[in-house]
Parts: sequence; C-alpha cells; structure tokens
Amino acid sequence: MMLDTTSITHAMLEDLRERVQKTMSPKRYTHTCAVECMVARLCELFCPECTLELRAAALLHDITKEESLEKQLQLCRDFDIIVKSGDVLAPKTFHAKTAAALIGREYPAFASEAVINAVRWHTTGHANMTLGEQLLYLADYIDDSRMFPDCVRLRNYFWRADPAAMDEGARIAHLYDTLIMSFDMTMRHLLDENATISLDTILARNALIEKKTGL
Ligand SMILES: [Fe+2]
Repeated sequence: MMLDTTSITHAMLEDLRERVQKTMSPKRYTHTCAVECMVARLCELFCPECTLELRAAALLHDITKEESLEKQLQLCRDFDIIVKSGDVLAPKTFHAKTAAALIGREYPAFASEAVINAVRWHTTGHANMTLGEQLLYLADYIDDSRMFPDCVRLRNYFWRADPAAMDEGARIAHLYDTLIMSFDMTMRHLLDENATISLDTILARNALIEKKTGL
C-alpha cells in the first residue's frame, strides 16, 4: 500500500537514520548522509515542500547496494521484479529496483509514491523524471563525499554558477544542463568500460534535451 500524502517528521528521519546505519557499511552510511544533506540543499532551491520526503528517499536509496548479485536476484524474485537477460551485465542497476521494492515491506511509514519513485530511478533516470526524482539523482551524483573527478566537476559546475541567485526559469535550465552533463559523463564512462547503457538513461537524457529546447 502506498501513502498518498507525506506524513514524515524530523523524529521519523532520526529513527530512519539509525535503522539504515545498521544495514550498511560505515562508508556507505557516510555517503547516504551526504546525499541526504545535498538533497536538502537542492530542495531549498527547487522544492522546499519536498524536503522531508526526499531526505527519507536519500536515506533509503542505497539500502540494498551492498547486497550480492545473488541476493539482488533473490529480491527480484521475492518482489516479482522482471529480470531481463541483459540486466546482469549492469548489476549496479539492480539496487535501485530492489531498494524501492523493499520500502513498502520494511519501511511502510515512508512508502509514498514520491519516495519510492525517487529511489527507483536514482541510478538510471528515465524519460520524464519528476522534479523529486531529478533532485535525488543529482544529489547522489554530487554529494560532498564523492571525490571521483566527474563528480567533483559536476558539483562545481552546479554550485559555482550560484543557482540561488538565479530566477526560477534560469535555475531550472541550469538544473537541466547539469543533469544532461551527468548523463553524458555516465554514458562516456560506460562506453570506456565497454559496458551496456540502460535505455532509461538514454531516454532521460533525450527528454531533458527536448525539454530544454522547448520541444
Ligand atoms: Fe548512492
């Protein structure tokens, strides 16, 4: 069952932080908290009313990231997630699906559509992402714990333009530019690694370019 309104409180987030900490390594927890901070900063700019739900989504986004491929496949069977033959070539994409599925069972108080979908799409993106999905996706890419050169570059690109000083239209355009750049980086990286590229990632990038040009 999905909640249709947000009823998340700061006290609930406090408890959630403690709970998720027990399910992951210290390194993953540090990243998780950094994503929570970053998504809260992005919410301030784009959607203050989304803050509590997206903080919750940030805390939940990687709850299955450290599970083995075998466990991911087991979770897919448990939750009737369809696994296509090519999916095992991109094992990193499983955790977004399995984490989203697990929220309803293990964390029902946070199981709103906005939380589940932000978690579901935080790795690949998809065509026509909602603002909440975009913000968690970006926060996961540029959180302050990330030192990978592409992440540092994207973090600097986004913040050095001073989005807080922009008017709303320019700020959204800047968000789209930043997201497009992130998809370009991801795809370039996957090409260099001879890895498969999720169709959802290509569609996400195309949709943003179309939106930007007003198509
Ligand atoms: Fe993450």
